[in-house]
Amino acid sequence: MFRRHYENPPTAGLPIKWRDWRPAKQSLAVVASQFLQLPAVEVTCSGTAALVIALSSLAQEHPQRKTVIVPAYTCPLVALAIYHCGLQIQLCDLQPNSIDLDIGQLTGLVSNDVLAVIPTHLGGRVTDVQSVKQIAQRYQIAVIEDAAQAVGAQVGRYGDIVLFSLAAGKGLTMYEGGLLATANLPMRAQFRTTADKLLPWRTLRELKRILELIGYTALYNPYGLHFVYGYGRRKNLNRQQLISAVGDDFDFAIPMHQVSQWRQNVAANAFSRLPSFLQLLHQQAQQRIQQLERIDGVQVVQDKYGQGVWPFIMLLLPTVQQRDAIMDKLWSSPLGVTRLFIHTLPQYDYLQPIVPKIDTPNAQDFAARMLTITNSPWLTETQFEQICKVIQEIVA
Ligand SMILES: Cc1ncc(COP(=O)(O)O)c(C=O)c1O
Repeated sequence: MFRRHYENPPTAGLPIKWRDWRPAKQSLAVVASQFLQLPAVEVTCSGTAALVIALSSLAQEHPQRKTVIVPAYTCPLVALAIYHCGLQIQLCDLQPNSIDLDIGQLTGLVSNDVLAVIPTHLGGRVTDVQSVKQIAQRYQIAVIEDAAQAVGAQVGRYGDIVLFSLAAGKGLTMYEGGLLATANLPMRAQFRTTADKLLPWRTLRELKRILELIGYTALYNPYGLHFVYGYGRRKNLNRQQLISAVGDDFDFAIPMHQVSQWRQNVAANAFSRLPSFLQLLHQQAQQRIQQLERIDGVQVVQDKYGQGVWPFIMLLLPTVQQRDAIMDKLWSSPLGVTRLFIHTLPQYDYLQPIVPKIDTPNAQDFAARMLTITNSPWLTETQFEQICKVIQEIVA
């Protein structure tokens, strides 16, 4: 029964322990800024809310700037946050086989109309922020590093602003949560003012989140995940509902509220285990990447611009047919093989009213040939070898 109900999570999140629910010695904001080596951080109810606060603050200072440039392949929540702030989305393609923005295209997109550009550290990989900053500063455009998937990576060094997500399954979580940081003192004060205005106290919403975090503490393990994650995912896959299977079907309404001390304490306590957990993930990833790279033709997306973190491994297959054939075999298994965002932003029907319908061939190609393998320590060697065997057979 236990074997049959063993499920790997799609990303390696740090499990929450019951002892994390005791009072914390230091606040989450203090612990996070020390660990991330960033100036004072603002705690928010989600990464999306952090982005809304950043954009709203910037927009107040530069009301004539109406556009935000984003990678064409990113989380749909980023598009929803921009729309929520009454701003327009401008898409930038990626470089081939990479999460980095196409710098040539970006050069043609920048102007005095642009409020911000959002280079994104997707999947824990560190993207090239320095080149983006060089181009953005010609027009005094703010660079917001989206590190939603990269808590603990070497990020936030070159951008003006950095944000993280503490959502379920992320490196560190309080079920839903986010962090926002900037080295710019006036901007930091502006974030505080905006957060006070945009994040009211909502008792029922917070109560719901506390219950969800209790559920997460109890069930984020290979047996609990079978019921709360695996079952629903397989049901969606059977119905060919791929967007629901990866959880890309977001609501336009963005919850905006304060986070209680309880949930902040849990994350602050769990932070003490994060460095050793990230180290473990790093070592495991290095070994497994070596094994994957022995398979002819597959490419692992790696870091060129700083040390990242490894919640999962992003793998590019030679063709979309091969990627899909692998997913046919592995997606509904409990091995933690899945896809990140199913589409580029313009390819989601529900985003069509807010995202320009333009072609971004490199981002489309990246979305079409990529799959992810969990880097959870719960994925055993034997299970990992099973994955490699399937990939090898199909690529050969
Ligand atoms: C790249 C990226 N940006 C932003 C977000 C939004 O973060 P949150 O889910 O905490 O609102 C996510 C969520 O996963 C993300 O992956």
